[in-house]
Amino acid sequence: MASSVHYSVRVQPYFANWMCGNEPQALRKLMGIVGRRPNILSFALGWPDPALFPRAAISAALVSAIDENPLALQLGPPLPDLRREIAALMRRRGVACDESQVFLTAGAQQALDLLARLLVDPGASVVVEEVTYPGMHMALRPLAPTYCYVPTDERDGMDVDALQALLSRTRPRFIYVMSDGHNPLGVSLAPSKRRRLVELARAHQVPIIEDDPYGFFQYGSGDPLAPMRALDDEWVYYVGSFSKIVAPGLRVGWIVAPEHLIPKLSIVKDLSDIDGCTLVQHGLARFLAAGALAPHVDTLRREYRERRDAMLGALERHMPEGTRWSTPQSGMFVWAQLPSTIDTTILLEHAIERGVAFLPGPPFAPGSRIAASAMRLCFASCPRDRIEDGVATIGALATQALDRPTPTARMVGA
Ligand SMILES: Cc1ncc(COP(=O)(O)O)c(C=O)c1O
Repeated sequence: MASSVHYSVRVQPYFANWMCGNEPQALRKLMGIVGRRPNILSFALGWPDPALFPRAAISAALVSAIDENPLALQLGPPLPDLRREIAALMRRRGVACDESQVFLTAGAQQALDLLARLLVDPGASVVVEEVTYPGMHMALRPLAPTYCYVPTDERDGMDVDALQALLSRTRPRFIYVMSDGHNPLGVSLAPSKRRRLVELARAHQVPIIEDDPYGFFQYGSGDPLAPMRALDDEWVYYVGSFSKIVAPGLRVGWIVAPEHLIPKLSIVKDLSDIDGCTLVQHGLARFLAAGALAPHVDTLRREYRERRDAMLGALERHMPEGTRWSTPQSGMFVWAQLPSTIDTTILLEHAIERGVAFLPGPPFAPGSRIAASAMRLCFASCPRDRIEDGVATIGALATQALDRPTPTARMVGA
């Protein structure tokens, strides 16, 4: 007989300790809001513009993969053709490697998760920047590491002197760095800092996780900077992704690591998903072999550079005095620091009311007072001709908030 007991309070199972008190990420909530309001002008998420996806070429590659090879729909080991194409892509960026050092993942996020699980025991120390990509914190949370924070110079990247001092006291499991298009700061790591970081990693035998989804988007007129993996093949574990340069929905990323690490990474990956999506791997291998990536990335780079310039100009015209922002030479983000009396989490609520979204600073630097008045703006995901209006709206709201600097300036629902 069915039980007639009704509970007025939901009975929950015992959760693992790390999950207790864990709320859905601010980012996930925002995705929900943006998804429910298709007309919102969003500078919030670091998503590429869907209008620029290479749909015809990807569609042709997927269709021909299915038509010509039934194994495109079979389970299978990481596709050698795709690993070979990725090795060639890396060589074009100055990184000497071959397919035996390339490990395929479901996006860069899975790569970070696998590397974290491979390297970190609970309580072990890891080095991250004070302001950094929240996905790294997410990947680390179940492992409960000890965080060693290093500041970042907004002009040239991680404070390598602070790192050196730290490494003289402790041997962390890894150093997490974004060399180009830092998310959220938009900064590129200076060449001299790249060299020093690699020297420190070698000297202290601590691997660098170089997270590089944005390195293909460099906007300077000189030669593009090579990733740190070009300087060392033993202590730099490179993480790449097709999410920004092709499409994030494909969920394909990669790690370039010393060959002896590849079987260990396979063990960690098998725990959760056995094999990646074979069809997408076949399709991407064909897309790359056809030479479709380079012209597509050139188009994106040109377009994103113009959007960056549109955003920088609009910030100049509309943000209140006392606001400063980064001038990114790579990537998709501008980081703006507003006057300290402005709480950007509250400002976001007002901005959404007016149809504009951005990301407030706190998810990138939990606990930092400065981040409370900062915001990340993605210039890549919305059309160039809408950027001016969106920044003007944010600027007007920020100016109003300055005029009423107390929490009572909350105007939610007003
Ligand atoms: C710095 C950084 N690393 C990793 C990722 C995850 O990317 P993917 O879509 O390849 O999982 C992102 C996504 O925005 C990112 O900004």
